[in-house]
Amino acid sequence: MRAKLLGLCLASALLAYYIYSPMPEDFEEPWKVMLIAAAFRAVRHLSEVADQLGVMHSVEALKAITAIDYIAPTSDENVTVTDTEFSNVAVRLYLPRKPSDGLRRAVVYFHGGGWCLGQAGMKSYDRLTRWTSNRLNAVVVSVNYRLAPKYRFPVQFEDVYSVMKFFLQSSVLSQYGVDPDRVCVAGDSAGGNLAAAVAQQLLEDSEVKTRLKAQALLYPALQTLDLNLPSYQENENKPVLSRLFMVKLWSEYFTSDSSLREAMASNRHVPVESSHLFQFVNWSNFLPEELKKGHVYTSPAYGSSELAQKYPGFLDPRAAPLLASDAQLRGLPLTYVLTCGHDVLRDDGVMYARRLQAAGVPVTHDHAKDAFHGVMMFVSSPTELAVGRRLLNRYIGWLNENL
Ligand SMILES: *[C@@H]1O[C@H](CO)[C@@H](O)[C@H](O)[C@H]1NC(C)=O
Ligand SMILES: *[C@@H]1O[C@H](CO)[C@@H](O)[C@H](O)[C@H]1NC(C)=O
Repeated sequence: MRAKLLGLCLASALLAYYIYSPMPEDFEEPWKVMLIAAAFRAVRHLSEVADQLGVMHSVEALKAITAIDYIAPTSDENVTVTDTEFSNVAVRLYLPRKPSDGLRRAVVYFHGGGWCLGQAGMKSYDRLTRWTSNRLNAVVVSVNYRLAPKYRFPVQFEDVYSVMKFFLQSSVLSQYGVDPDRVCVAGDSAGGNLAAAVAQQLLEDSEVKTRLKAQALLYPALQTLDLNLPSYQENENKPVLSRLFMVKLWSEYFTSDSSLREAMASNRHVPVESSHLFQFVNWSNFLPEELKKGHVYTSPAYGSSELAQKYPGFLDPRAAPLLASDAQLRGLPLTYVLTCGHDVLRDDGVMYARRLQAAGVPVTHDHAKDAFHGVMMFVSSPTELAVGRRLLNRYIGWLNENL
């Protein structure tokens, strides 16, 4: 009896030790966030164990675990939901049932998950896109682009791009009753990365006649060059995306070769021949004073040119939209950028907003100081967070006013 009790105490203590991690003071619901973060950490640890045991690639294991969160296409009284294909790419389509006075608005949405994980049918994404469709009375296309490690860059980009091109054809827009002057591209995290890349590429595509009205980038990943920005340093171990996990996701977008991951982890992956690109991610020029505080800009450290020759994708603006020149940024549509204070990707979004503004693009930059990466995923029980709800409402409110 006593041994059992002792065992129980020990197990609880270990569990508490595992779950506990210090939370920033400005988190509104610190205990809830701590539990969410611990669950994410546990899932990641399990996937690494599966990898080390040789059961499966850690990313495949993560996919298997997160598949629990899937929901089949389910229509409700407001929105008809179907899974279909656009241009041979799987999409989930949300068509409002409410009558409309005229043509409708449309949002083409790319989910997050580091180019490796996630899908339109995850409960949290299904909810986000369903609400968007219902509240804006808009057609929403949520794209199930192919994922790493099975598919690498540029497959993810090409999938979302071909869906976009297919949808922007006037025959398709009119089939769904969409106003060609009111189409937006949007995405979160890796999806925000793809949305930014698609918006850039469309400017150079003479085959596409319809112009986007807007782009909405929610805590996007926008550059691979400097993985030691002040936000990477300050938020190295914040929920739910650590610096090393982000490095892993970035490197998996291009390869499972651990030499790229290791070089990225030590921030020595860019060859000296590409040094001119650093001007586009120079935080010393693009961050406001309050975010620079306590950080000293040092010149980049360079790596071997072999990696960049083998995996040129990581220096490609279609993977790293911040690497586009100022001239290429001009002409981008009305932009919404959300950044979170406690996010390794904070400075990617802050710098992009700055550069777009300087290039004359109208930008709304929403900076949520007290939020962390992926917070809009947590908008329903049991993982509902007030801050997630608030930001979701801000995003949809912006779309409602600007699209
Ligand atoms: C349908 O829309 C109404 C009005 O916006 C809303 O109150 C209701 O909850 C929606 N139904 C579902 C299932 O989302
Ligand atoms: C970054 O900007 C600072 C300040 O303007 C400058 O001194 C530095 O040379 C720049 N570095 C690079 C690599 O462009």
